[in-house]
Amino acid sequence: MGQSLEWGRRYLMVRPDHFRIDYVINPYMSTHDQPDPALTLKQWDSLRQAIIDAGGEVEVLAQRGDSPDMVYAMNLGLATADGRAMLSHMRFEPRRKESLTAAVWFTEHGFALSRTGTDGVGPHFESGDAFVFGDSLVVGYGPRTEAEALKHLATEWNVRVRGLRIAHEGMYHLDLPFCPVDSTHAMVYPPAFDTASQVELARIVPDPIVLTDDEAFAFTANSIVVNDTIIMPSCSPRLETVLTGLGLTVVVLDLAEFHKGGGSIRCLTNPLDFPVSAITTPGGELVLPA
Ligand code: ARG
Repeated sequence: MGQSLEWGRRYLMVRPDHFRIDYVINPYMSTHDQPDPALTLKQWDSLRQAIIDAGGEVEVLAQRGDSPDMVYAMNLGLATADGRAMLSHMRFEPRRKESLTAAVWFTEHGFALSRTGTDGVGPHFESGDAFVFGDSLVVGYGPRTEAEALKHLATEWNVRVRGLRIAHEGMYHLDLPFCPVDSTHAMVYPPAFDTASQVELARIVPDPIVLTDDEAFAFTANSIVVNDTIIMPSCSPRLETVLTGLGLTVVVLDLAEFHKGGGSIRCLTNPLDFPVSAITTPGGELVLPA
């Protein structure tokens, strides 16, 4: 039986005042299928309230008018409980202005900023690819984050980093096929990864909860755990039995407007309390799949 997660109690969210589909950078997006602004705000607010009801805290940042994907706050940067933040260096140019605002926010809120690159120079890193789990920072790479960024994270922060290569265009961030549930359990969707990374994933997660295709593509792994509540965009009956059996209260919310941009509950929330000091190793260490 796993212990409760040490993180996931404090989040940054971006109010969706300018959420549109202006460009297509993942297979879920279509400029012909625009979100409804009123419904978008209602769904976002139900998520903010659910986090507070579960005993979590939410900081709210205003959205830039020129950055329609900024609502997916998970990608603004990787923040730690001891006050560090690794700013994202977005793969696609239309998202790069988000980092200007994120840098100011993290600095004003007391986080010491680092970055893997800027304006297309240096390796790309998107923080929707990174989670503390077990003895390491688990980082997905391939579609968005580059392997070079993992080396940067390991050495700059003196942490153990374990990479997983994502090999599925519909699972372009690690937060789509991977969701830590407690210290030993995580929801996982192995077909998102190449063969060597599936082997590594099985080593990293002692108690995997393997998702079906239908569950994975309903954004099931894009869920968050706040204290003993798991807030999910969808949950099949058999999964609900598994999760309640672990002592969790399951809350399911409709975030469908945000699925039009290719993200759901995890993507909309950036945890500000990753316990990175617990995975410190002098000089850093990078483990990549064979
Ligand atoms: N349209 C956004 C993109 O493609 C969606 C980001 C989803 N966020 C996430 N953490 N998976 O970048």
